[in-house]
Amino acid sequence: MSFIKSEYSDGFFNVNGKNGFLPEQSPLEKLPLKYSNLQKLLDKMPVKLNDKSGYLDIPGKIKKVVETLPNYLEDVSKESDIRIIQALFRGYSFLASAFTLEPSFQHFRNTGKYGKANNILPPQIAQPFVAVSNKLEVYPWLDYHYAYSLGNYKKIDKKKDHTWSNLEMCVRFSGQPDERGFIMLHVDINQHSPSLVGSVINTLQSLKKNDKSKALEHLRENYYTMKLMNKRRREMWKASRWNHYNDFRVFIMGVKGNEDLFGKGVTYQGVWKNPKQFRGQTGAQDDIIPMQDIFSGVIKHYPKNELTKYLLDLRSYRPKCIQNFFIDLEKSVETVDRAGVSGALEKQGNFNGLCYLLGVLEEIYHFRNGHWQFVQKYIMANTKYAKATGGTPIISWLPNQMKAVMREMRSIIKIVDHSNKIFDPNFDNFYKKIKQTLNKKEKLLESQLEIVNKKVFSADEVFDLNKKFDLADN
Ligand code: HEM
Repeated sequence: MSFIKSEYSDGFFNVNGKNGFLPEQSPLEKLPLKYSNLQKLLDKMPVKLNDKSGYLDIPGKIKKVVETLPNYLEDVSKESDIRIIQALFRGYSFLASAFTLEPSFQHFRNTGKYGKANNILPPQIAQPFVAVSNKLEVYPWLDYHYAYSLGNYKKIDKKKDHTWSNLEMCVRFSGQPDERGFIMLHVDINQHSPSLVGSVINTLQSLKKNDKSKALEHLRENYYTMKLMNKRRREMWKASRWNHYNDFRVFIMGVKGNEDLFGKGVTYQGVWKNPKQFRGQTGAQDDIIPMQDIFSGVIKHYPKNELTKYLLDLRSYRPKCIQNFFIDLEKSVETVDRAGVSGALEKQGNFNGLCYLLGVLEEIYHFRNGHWQFVQKYIMANTKYAKATGGTPIISWLPNQMKAVMREMRSIIKIVDHSNKIFDPNFDNFYKKIKQTLNKKEKLLESQLEIVNKKVFSADEVFDLNKKFDLADN
């Protein structure tokens, strides 16, 4: 544990002001030639390949083709190049999820309900999969960083940026545009993470040196980057149609919390005797909001409930270098002041800085309230029941995090109001506007909770309410 450093690397990810949370180099698009049998299988695996059927479109087909897959355990054990190891982990993650969840997918197509998954992974998948996951020090299941999202993009036009429409997935499940738009938008948002990570590190270092004007400059950058990220986030409505979410959702399910699908867990043949349970890939493994929560002080208000436990458990589903970054970040926020960044700014008399911090919190609120609308439409409006399947009671969980954000906003407003500070006109308007609209946000949250706590509710009601409060996301 130490004060925040300027980079945290495992050779693939290098969290710093240059790469943010994206890999240092673009991920390998294909596996090396010696793994051509695996690569060919992955290429032919998606449900749809343009207009044609891929393996997952044909009931039972994936099981048949896996029978002929060589066991590459010996080859993968010799690998030491992190990019190859990552691409192998990605490939085996996709294959393991496709192999186990294909029966659930077929059942869903026929009945609208997820059927039982196949919970045995044969040695030719299990053994090399566990070997590469050990090298990366992660669980052997599809994750967000190395497998599904951040380590799975390729640019269509190499000269252009990471806008989702210029990105393709290296490995896919559905092969349809909504899956690509959904997950590549996560990469798109993260293309702006270099200035977010950089501004977090630089603000803390400036506060440690008590450099008031630099702290202000970096907080300003943090605020405007969050605004930009929210703008990109809203592209979700275009990038991936909500009523197509079920085309690929089943394939990204985890084992833990989904006992209805997997029973006691998945048996990794030739590796472990007892079945194992790992969590599924989720945007909750993304790093932007967790980093901002630690940095801005929202984390102090996390409720003591199952969601908080779950979010903290998800830390262990991240690359080790990101886990270390979070540990140092938490420590550094405490080091600059016992009350965190807001406390340090107050002591500096940096009220303009406090205004930007309040702005950052408002952007975290917008991220979460917009995200809450995603969950309503992409998940709740696609199912018949008010409560989500499996282990995660998302309905009551996510709004709790919004409450935590608003608590920290109130605490900053209290600091500013008690100081009787008069700002220069720009900051005055900025501050007043955020303060005035906070009541409205609190009221909206209460009313949304009333709706979703009913046994059966319509996601459209939540939408209409957001419109009424002028906080519609699309
Ligand atoms: C259609 C789009 C999305 C849907 C349907 C969705 C769904 C969900 C669900 C169901 C959860 C609850 C926890 C879980 O089951 O893992 C969650 C949590 C979370 N998601 Fe998303 N998500 C979407 C987009 C995103 C994006 C674009 C990001 C960020 C790049 C993101 C970041 C998070 C975070 C940080 C959490 C943890 C909860 C919190 O801190 O508020 N999600 N999401």
